[in-house]
Amino acid sequence: MCGIVGYIGGKQASPILIEGLQKLEYRGYDSAGVAIYNDGEIAVQKYKGRLKVLEEHLEKKPIPGSVGIGHTRWATHGEPNDLNAHPHITTDGHIALVHNGIIENYTRLKEWLIEEGKIFKTETDTEVIVHLVDYFYEGDLEKAVRRAIGKMEGAFALGVISKNEPEKIVSVRKDSPLVVGIGKEENFIASDIPALLKHTKEVYFLDDGEMAVLTEKDIAIYDEFGQPVEKEPFTVTWDVSSAEKEGYEHFMMKEIHEQPKAIRDTLSPRLNDRNMVEIEEFNLSREDIQRIDKIMIVACGTAYHAGLIGKFAIEKFAKIPVETDIASEFRYRDPFVNEKTLFIAVSQSGETADTLAALREAKRKGARTMAITNVVGSRVSREADDVYYTWAGPEIAVASTKAYTTQIVAFYTIALDLGLKLGTLKEETYHQIIKELLTFGEKTEALLQYKKDIQFLADAQFNNTSAFYIGRGIDDAVAREGSLKLKEISYIHSEAIAAGELKHGTIALIEDGTLVVALTTQDRLYDKMLSAIKEVKARGAYVIAVAKEGNQDIQKEADAVMSIPDTYDELTPILSVIPLQLLAYYIAVARGCDVDKPKNLAKSVTVE
Ligand code: M6R
Repeated sequence: MCGIVGYIGGKQASPILIEGLQKLEYRGYDSAGVAIYNDGEIAVQKYKGRLKVLEEHLEKKPIPGSVGIGHTRWATHGEPNDLNAHPHITTDGHIALVHNGIIENYTRLKEWLIEEGKIFKTETDTEVIVHLVDYFYEGDLEKAVRRAIGKMEGAFALGVISKNEPEKIVSVRKDSPLVVGIGKEENFIASDIPALLKHTKEVYFLDDGEMAVLTEKDIAIYDEFGQPVEKEPFTVTWDVSSAEKEGYEHFMMKEIHEQPKAIRDTLSPRLNDRNMVEIEEFNLSREDIQRIDKIMIVACGTAYHAGLIGKFAIEKFAKIPVETDIASEFRYRDPFVNEKTLFIAVSQSGETADTLAALREAKRKGARTMAITNVVGSRVSREADDVYYTWAGPEIAVASTKAYTTQIVAFYTIALDLGLKLGTLKEETYHQIIKELLTFGEKTEALLQYKKDIQFLADAQFNNTSAFYIGRGIDDAVAREGSLKLKEISYIHSEAIAAGELKHGTIALIEDGTLVVALTTQDRLYDKMLSAIKEVKARGAYVIAVAKEGNQDIQKEADAVMSIPDTYDELTPILSVIPLQLLAYYIAVARGCDVDKPKNLAKSVTVE
């Protein structure tokens, strides 16, 4: 979490840093600050609250200067306040730095530095770094930073400036993302590409332990031993508009609307000209696959929910047993993983700490590993043996939408491929499913036409204090995602429960007017769902059903229905989640919530 930016060049740094931070606010938004070198001094402004607060202060009291660093924070150590906000600066004001990550041994370092006479003013782990760099500083900032990081345990991406060496920014990373932007007579650092796109599409991704020293005209990169490294620049293929709202009120709504394209962009590169799945990045032969005795899918939050659909699809089409696990649990339960395990980590950002740790644990135990991720060059993409990029384009809203649907598309293609290679899926069925998947761009477009109807429902329900999402089979997995979407952006207490489990406890909570969202897309389980709907209605629930269009019966049973285009039962999740995303969105808007930046959350969770 936290976003960092840095600029060195001939222009005024302040507006460039602010614009960069605007693009990184999704990473954290409880305080923000900048440090800019000007006329022999480093000036710092940092404030609790959204970036706007900092912007207002800078308007009143601008900081001139063309070398600077900036930060937007998601607090881990110390409450969000002006003091704990970054940048942090040495007592004598000669070194300032911004940090993304967590220093795990900061207490020990702090005690030692206090003994050495350093005076601490904040509760942050980051202040330790600034004092460490200061402690080792003997006129060479690179050396001091290198010696400081030698003492640090944990994760960090740093941007450091010194008034004694104002012609450079020193930047280094370990386990936290950092991109170096290559400009003309100007250079940049940032936690993520959108912050740089307005200025450059040429970037370097730093590897763990690497340091970049930026001057106005040059970027020098060194490995962890201080040896120069030659790096190939990476050219970003998306444009600035991908990271803009483009007329939508919120990124979340924009990203919901981008799903038809994102689904096509994930699917089409995996189909050859005969519409057969060919996953270049994941070329397992029949023999390789036969050696696998189980697949483990591990992820967090929404990505975990996509993994539940992945389990369903792989077991259904390829008949390989699949276990799913929440990444934060996986590594502490000593799971059965060995060389015969195929381990799939799912992560939109590719930098979620728990998912990364689980991936490392699976590798350590000998599993073949694969990452399904959206972010090129991300940590999990670098560490997994194979990478399946979802090509959904940048997802900025904290609430994940298009990442989820494209992760599901990824799983379908993997399941189909495995099924065909193993002979567990009839060729005819294989082709029918692919043909159907190819209609999903259109089907999701059609679904989005009904958003006003969903807004109407949301406007009637936004005052509810709790909601329950129920489903059976694959619908149960989608119910969990719908429920997460509602709670994270509207702050309504919401719970998802397998419909058959209701009567084992949860039904006690259903009373007059309780909102129950019931997924009824599985033909085979429809009658069972009907019983559950009747049970909750008998206790006063207001039921909104998600059903396949053409289902007349459900109109009589539920209070309201959100229809999805007809499709095979196995494929419904891509469609049925869309009304749930829209319902959550409109309820959150009706409640006046900050949809893109829900309280207490951040887009990428790089801490355990
Ligand atoms: O970047 P990741 O996919 O690894 O993120 C995992 C979760 O933190 C994420 O899906 C989270 O649950 C979303 N905010 C939900 O909308």
